[in-house]
Amino acid sequence: MSAAIDFRRAADPAHVFREGVRDAEGKPTEPAAWQEDVIRSEAKKRLILVSRQGGKSTTVGAKCAHGMVYAPGLYLVISPTLRQSKLFLKKTLDVYKNLTGVPRITSATKTEMHLENGSMMVALPGDDDANIRGFSAPRAIIIDEASRVPDSIYAAIRPMRAASPNCQLIALTTPLGVAAAGSTRLGSPTLGGLRRG
Ligand SMILES: Nc1ncnc2c1ncn2[C@@H]1O[C@H](COP(=O)(O)OP(=O)(O)O)[C@@H](O)[C@H]1O
Ligand SMILES: [Mg+2]
Repeated sequence: MSAAIDFRRAADPAHVFREGVRDAEGKPTEPAAWQEDVIRSEAKKRLILVSRQGGKSTTVGAKCAHGMVYAPGLYLVISPTLRQSKLFLKKTLDVYKNLTGVPRITSATKTEMHLENGSMMVALPGDDDANIRGFSAPRAIIIDEASRVPDSIYAAIRPMRAASPNCQLIALTTPLGVAAAGSTRLGSPTLGGLRRG
């Protein structure tokens, strides 16, 4: 790998966005300031409230692509449906494939992506907490369309986070989703305290 690229990427995680995210014409795209901030953030809990099509999944997908290289481990993606989690995994994979000099992808399906450094992303449906309980010590848990994921899922991830002090929990939703869910989620001890992104 080019030492210059590796140095730039390691020094500034947001660089993966410029390297890996492409627009409809296949051209590299420039991240907005909030997108850079999210990618650089080491916050253990973060709530990202941005409108639909605002770039949430792309941003966090790029963040995961960076993390899987520089903070190897398990990256769990949970959304209301498996279909949505698969879309998130695909965004991450699309970014990853545009990065040069990174660990090889050893296998990639619609629900799992494995790298030769041991990193793994798993896409899960958020409709049954039994699906979530088999995993241990994740490096990150991404909850996409978070306002529509039931509280039982948040309860299932709590012990995992307790056992994994470096785990980052990142919840993505639209402000409308939060309004639709009422104040119950954000007011609950499970999502309460997440930072607005
Ligand atoms: N900084 C950016 N510049 C140009 N296009 C972007 C940028 N961020 C995201 N996009 C594009 O915007 C579209 C919506 O992004 P997405 O991450 O799916 O949004 P959300 O998850 O918020 O609905 C995608 O086509 C994505 O490539
Ligand atoms: Mg999205």
